[in-house]
Amino acid sequence: MDNLKLIFNNLKDGILLIDKQGMILEANESAKILFNLPDKSNKITSFFDLDIDSKIKAAIREEIISPNNRMLELELSRDTAVLLLHLKPIYGRDNSFLLSAKDITKQRELDTVRRDFIANVSHELKTPITGIKLLADAICQSPDSEIATTRRFAERLEKETSRLVQLVNDLLDLSKLESLEPKFEYFDLAGLLQELGDEFRQKAAAKDILLLINVDKKMPFFQGNPEQLELLIINLLDNAIRYTQPKGEIKLNLFFKKQKFIIEVADNGIGIPKKDIGRIFERFYRVDKARSRKKGGTGLGLAIVKHVVQNHHGSIKVDSQVKKGSKFTLSLPVN
Ligand SMILES: Nc1ncnc2c1ncn2[C@@H]1O[C@H](COP(=O)(O)OP(=O)(O)O)[C@@H](O)[C@H]1O
Ligand SMILES: [Mg+2]
Repeated sequence: MDNLKLIFNNLKDGILLIDKQGMILEANESAKILFNLPDKSNKITSFFDLDIDSKIKAAIREEIISPNNRMLELELSRDTAVLLLHLKPIYGRDNSFLLSAKDITKQRELDTVRRDFIANVSHELKTPITGIKLLADAICQSPDSEIATTRRFAERLEKETSRLVQLVNDLLDLSKLESLEPKFEYFDLAGLLQELGDEFRQKAAAKDILLLINVDKKMPFFQGNPEQLELLIINLLDNAIRYTQPKGEIKLNLFFKKQKFIIEVADNGIGIPKKDIGRIFERFYRVDKARSRKKGGTGLGLAIVKHVVQNHHGSIKVDSQVKKGSKFTLSLPVN
């Protein structure tokens, strides 16, 4: 096979040479896959006999009838794949056409995720900002004599602002986790866990919840990013406290088993319905939006947790039963 043929057949984009009757003169390997071409390469096939979207055929037919001295860009969904097509007339060769097809399914999916994310962020920001504005206006207009009213508004103002700050902090954490290669180092994960545990034991106690910490005595040093692991533990403990009623109990365990560090956070709180378990790691997904917001949640905590675990090549398991409680098990390999 000559070099050009070799290049042609190994291109990632699909390339077809079509004559003015619509017969396929040449097709590379990618085109055969993208357009589902029958594999009898010695037999010439008409483009119009292919099992493809009629919109593509119509566009090609139109080009054949009145060739345009321009490139055509068509974006058409076939099954779930999105193809970007370029149709280029080749003059001086009896009006044949070069059709190239690029599979842009992944790009489109990413675009959608990004668009949804921006829409969600804007929506999340809008609520507290509107609240802050209204409260500030009310304070400005309240008469001097009404100090009590002013104070009440100011307290609510403080609450809304805190929410906003928390939201922006979580967004910044998340974007850092997504964009930076984490720096790994050996550190004492057991020590970090104890330290955070002590801090959260008090937060739990303030809500009359008992936090029990159990760390394996013999722990090797963990190789990973300490700041990220801190975020992970904070977010899991924060949830456990937030979604557990007073008099509840939370267990935080760390042990080393079969070359893996296992972190468990178990509570006997409100639990998560089965249908939601698969989605709680999505950004801004909450089982009960209003309730989570009222309790100060941003909907980003578990997305942060998921990213940290991914960055450390680990996995997460969730066992939960409504009104019984939830258990998050994180398994992080020796990296
Ligand atoms: N320990 C838990 N018990 C019950 N539900 C939980 C727990 N952890 C997370 N969830 C559910 O998962 C959702 C997403 O969690 P997260 O991303 O941390 O957002 P939020 O800011 O709402 O806590 C929560 O809104 C809640 O519905
Ligand atoms: Mg949370």
